[in-house]
Amino acid sequence: MKISVIGTGYLGATHAACMAELGFDVVGVDVDPAKVDQLNSGVVPFFEPDLEPLLRKHVETDRLRFTTSLVEAAAFADVHFVCVGTPQQKGRLAADTSYVEAVVEGLAPHLRPGALVVGKSTVPVGTAAALRETLLRLSPAPDVELAWNPEFLREGFAVADTLRPDRLVIGTSSTYVEEQLRTVYAHALADGCPLIVTSLETAELVKSAANSFLATKISFINAMAEICEATGADVVQLADAIGHDVRIGRRFLGAGLGFGGGCLPKDIRAFQARANELGLTKSVAFLGDVDDINVRRRARTVSLAHEVLGGRISDRKVAVLGAAFKPNSDDVRDSPALDVADQLHLRGAEVVVYDPAATGTARRRSPQLTYASRLEEAYDCADLVMVLTEWSEFLALDPAAVAGKVRARNVIDGRNALDPVTWRAAGWHYRGLGRP
Ligand code: UDX
Repeated sequence: MKISVIGTGYLGATHAACMAELGFDVVGVDVDPAKVDQLNSGVVPFFEPDLEPLLRKHVETDRLRFTTSLVEAAAFADVHFVCVGTPQQKGRLAADTSYVEAVVEGLAPHLRPGALVVGKSTVPVGTAAALRETLLRLSPAPDVELAWNPEFLREGFAVADTLRPDRLVIGTSSTYVEEQLRTVYAHALADGCPLIVTSLETAELVKSAANSFLATKISFINAMAEICEATGADVVQLADAIGHDVRIGRRFLGAGLGFGGGCLPKDIRAFQARANELGLTKSVAFLGDVDDINVRRRARTVSLAHEVLGGRISDRKVAVLGAAFKPNSDDVRDSPALDVADQLHLRGAEVVVYDPAATGTARRRSPQLTYASRLEEAYDCADLVMVLTEWSEFLALDPAAVAGKVRARNVIDGRNALDPVTWRAAGWHYRGLGRP
């Protein structure tokens, strides 16, 4: 079986390399020739742990190659995974599905008989059925099919999540398609990975529902943080206590700056837009609150910085540790850390940002900020240190050593990831979010 993977972002590049690792001959397709050249020389154009060795290994043995030609991919492969982006439309809640549509329209006329197109991108419910109709209408080849197979990988763990998924979901009504995809995922299935075979609509909804649930869980605990801040209670202890209830669970109850990235924020917005189109305005209206709570945490962090600096923010040096939306990633899409840095800069602070991986991407998005190339350079003579992305490098900081370098011992822990006891013992004025 030969495989093509269309779109080579975090999802597609990882999926392509992992398919090669599982023994398939793979071609990856992207519209960006510079990216294709990089991938063909074994270089991953973004930060994703463990991906580059895998890519290099399979590019070197010719099991994996990249091209800009959809026609070439159509002639080569039996199964085509669609991994292109579905970003939020400008000024609207809805997702832009035009890239997914363009891939299906581009592939369809050139497919081989019996070819299978498998969508992995996150799309509004109903998109896959429409794409299937397009495919059947435009493809002259007999027996082509379209299925949906949503992806649940987390950036930073993309390789592990792809090779060892915690579940597989396949939307199709065809037993032939199911068999083909069972062959693709034979490795994970042999390891006991659960498989849910369902309709196209359910498969699409599983992804929207999963990300909405995760976002709701984070915003729930951040709403509790707001209550804690007003009452002197401690949200970290609260999360520990309720998290012991196995029905609730402690994961994704990390209170702090909230969620960002290329998935959760846009997926909850796209879900609301789709529900509105379906006339179900009330069904997921709560996701508007989930979004609002999330965005309020950023404003709260800025006002906390103001408070800690005694109300005078202009010309004070603020070390912002972290720009990525989460650690082990260079992704700054909708990054809470970078938003806070931007807002402090707008209010006149001298903001110096340090991130172990995201300086390049952050500089492109927020060129007005100053970026340090070393961690020490960021906090040197700072009036306030803010940990806004919980990279392990920041959690390992020795508060006593840092204390000797700063102008004032003020620290804001935007991720509730530092140990307040050791920081306070070293003479720091420590503030977390939702903590007394
Ligand atoms: C998410 C889903 O987890 C994944 O299944 C889906 O395929 C894509 O979207 P990802 O965007 O990589 O993955 O990040 P995730 O690890 O889920 O974190 C999302 C955001 O939530 C980050 O900004 C993170 O810092 C924040 N977060 C996470 C919290 O604020 N608190 C938590 O307790 C957990």
